[in-house]
Amino acid sequence: MSTPIGIHDLAVATGRYSLDLAELAEHGNVDVDKYYIGLGQEKQSIVAADEDIVTMAAAAARPVLDRNGTDGIRTIMLATETGIDQSKSAAVYVHGLLGMPADVRAVELKQACYSGTSALQFAAGIVARNPEERVLVITSDVAWYDLDSSGEATQGAAAVAMLISANPKVAVLDTVAGLHTSDVQDFWRPNYRSTPVVDGKLSIDTYLSALEHAWADYTARGGHGIGEFHGFCYHQPFSRMAYKAHARLLEINGIEASRERLDADLAQTTRYGRIIGNSYSAALYIALFGVLDQQEDLTGETIGMFSYGSGCVSEFFSLTVVPGYRDTLDLERDREAVFGREPIDYATYRGLREATLPTDGSRAELPASGTGPYRLAAIDGHSRIYEAIEKQP
Ligand code: CAA
Repeated sequence: MSTPIGIHDLAVATGRYSLDLAELAEHGNVDVDKYYIGLGQEKQSIVAADEDIVTMAAAAARPVLDRNGTDGIRTIMLATETGIDQSKSAAVYVHGLLGMPADVRAVELKQACYSGTSALQFAAGIVARNPEERVLVITSDVAWYDLDSSGEATQGAAAVAMLISANPKVAVLDTVAGLHTSDVQDFWRPNYRSTPVVDGKLSIDTYLSALEHAWADYTARGGHGIGEFHGFCYHQPFSRMAYKAHARLLEINGIEASRERLDADLAQTTRYGRIIGNSYSAALYIALFGVLDQQEDLTGETIGMFSYGSGCVSEFFSLTVVPGYRDTLDLERDREAVFGREPIDYATYRGLREATLPTDGSRAELPASGTGPYRLAAIDGHSRIYEAIEKQP
């Protein structure tokens, strides 16, 4: 039997603030139940002025490195669709902030919300070639849509860092995967825009169609039967999307998608997405965090994972949970990252959204407002200047 490869450790980070969707509903004169019930979203994470995908990625990776050291880590892959530079990878900034050794390759991957899953699979390939190596995979995104657009209710921000290794202590990445790629304009962001262009209805239909195709490929390649999964994690732009997707998966497998069945399969996987919002590349792994962070012992259980990135690329794969996973993770710390956010009102959110950074090379200092271990301190000469925050004793 070949050496198992998978997630050896995992940690999450998110923005400093949370915005209750009641604030957005009141501003837009929308019935809040459209958000709470129709989209299944209660809150969204909002980054502080001195937070971005780099600071969140480093904040998520820090505890993983503190627990595991850097020995054997020769690759960092940072998956994002909200990159801060067209050329230099965000992984290089994170490498510097984390003080990692120089004998490392650090790259950024992009394919909308899917790229974290590609990083996971590429990492498994590196480890298969040399089981002594470990790979740091980080998914990090800040999802912002046009102000006053229908997408605004589905915003969010988070990062998930995962250490990929042989003989993992959290979950084995099973070898069968179902894939589906198709060239569709459902959601994209041209280089000259800071927010995406989105055809919301098409994006939902494309997601569901991609799920059907990826599942067909997965089963054709000898994947698990629908009854063999303990739970399901879906890429989660909003939690009702996971419900729509799971209902479709059950139906194509001849199973009635009753409310009870959907809740039983999805309640754990959607609970953090409901209050963090869409974190694009991180959203699927936030769902996984929700599954791992529950009372029930998942040892030996298989979790179905559906990754979707608009445009579109999708993958259905599975993870099998390893004995002792709870002792490896620090779920209390991860929970604190979510529940320790500071609520803000609409005016504060709007102020953060409308703030701009110089694009002419002049210097701007960012207010020290984030509470994470790293911050974006300034922009100067077109460079982003990050710093570690010294913790007060
Ligand atoms: N009480 C309860 N439910 C209500 C309600 C109320 N008062 N008012 C409306 N609803 C329901 C609607 O019936 C609808 O439910 P169904 O989907 O079951 O029909 C739901 O609330 C949403 O209402 P609308 O369809 O009218 O919402 P909208 O037109 O404002 O747009 C959206 C919703 C298309 C998701 C929009 O927020 C959007 O474009 N979001 C960004 C794109 C996106 O997230 N796409 C998801 C798939 S693509 C993907 O997954 C990649 C990615 O991350 C972007």
